[in-house]
Amino acid sequence: MINGSRLLKHLHDLSQIGRNEVTGGINRFSFTPEEKQAIELITMYMEKAGMTVTVDAVGNIIGTYGEGRETIMLGSHIDTVPEGGKYDGALGVLAAIEVVQTIHEQQLSPAKKIEIVAFKDEEGTRFRFGLIGSRAMAGLLTQEQLLQTDASGISIEEAMKQFQLSPFPLEKVKRNDIQAYLEMHIEQGKVLENEGLPVGVVTGIAAPLWLEVTVTGVSEHAGATPMLIRQDALTAASEMILAIEHLLNDTTDSVATVGKLNVEPNGINVIPGKVTFTVDIRDIDEQKISNLENTIFKKIQKIAERRNVTLTSKVLQRVKPAKTDPMIQQQLINSIEKHGVQSYSLISGAGHDAMNIAAVAPIGMLFVRSKDGISHNPLEFSTDEDIILATNILYDSVVELAN
Ligand code: GLV
Ligand code: MN
Ligand code: MN
Repeated sequence: MINGSRLLKHLHDLSQIGRNEVTGGINRFSFTPEEKQAIELITMYMEKAGMTVTVDAVGNIIGTYGEGRETIMLGSHIDTVPEGGKYDGALGVLAAIEVVQTIHEQQLSPAKKIEIVAFKDEEGTRFRFGLIGSRAMAGLLTQEQLLQTDASGISIEEAMKQFQLSPFPLEKVKRNDIQAYLEMHIEQGKVLENEGLPVGVVTGIAAPLWLEVTVTGVSEHAGATPMLIRQDALTAASEMILAIEHLLNDTTDSVATVGKLNVEPNGINVIPGKVTFTVDIRDIDEQKISNLENTIFKKIQKIAERRNVTLTSKVLQRVKPAKTDPMIQQQLINSIEKHGVQSYSLISGAGHDAMNIAAVAPIGMLFVRSKDGISHNPLEFSTDEDIILATNILYDSVVELAN
């Protein structure tokens, strides 16, 4: 059995790093002092669990346990969205460390090597481009993608170098030796709660396509410019955003979200001349994502023409949806049932590093029930009881898979 109170203490202590005292939200972004502090903390936990800790060329933190020739990998992330919660990502890393520490204390000698990875920048908050570490490990990260910049114009490549990393050649981060990859994560939806079940087995992961749309009109005097001759970029963007929502009302599985908006020059008495907004489109079916991308573009292009503004759009990130491995699913089901719990299979609406690792290894994911389905929010919550049960299930699965 894992040590539940130790795991809960680790969760609490990590959640204090980057915490906004006013809102309770956590702000821990890549290549920042907060991230550095979090890395130091989990490195200490990994070492106490008997692991050797290394950092690969893009900044993935890797703890290694045992000497076996084959590798079982466990992982998740320690970065957050703006004003995030304490479980998203952090739980997967800390539960994995707890599993290894328990194996270490029980003096089991797994036949396979166990690695735990805290992947670099899963959320994509800082650079509007995420899953950086897992892309690199799957051989999917390109040199060009590292040119994407944050709000102050610093590129991913520059940030890596400021953090004493030498990412090139990126191929050296790619792994081909992973026998199985397992990630435990909060569900971030309401399915398990509605079923009255503490844990679930993920069958597939819906993937995000992120676009950045720029609408350019003419910035003019708010008092002196008659309504009918304006080229207002914000009213045009507003119509586009509502049109996107309207288009998605006809679909059942796909979702699309405009989550970030930038208005220029952002003055009370100035007609907005330029608006940039992001679109996050998701589905479990790659073809549906691409169809939606085209439909959305055609629709907003028409609005731009009618409103006499110009439109440009660029892809910020594109990820492939992934299926989990049936054998690992079965292993998780066996462990869940061993604990006398009914097993339940579901799809992940949220993205995970596992999506990328699926390109180079069989993957599995164990979900923990989320209260009210809330996530990417300081109110994100899973009970101590569910967390401890899930980590024991993870422990049993890892012991099986590693032998
Ligand atoms: C990460 O949480 C994502 O799904 O965007
Ligand atoms: Mn997240
Ligand atoms: Mn996550």
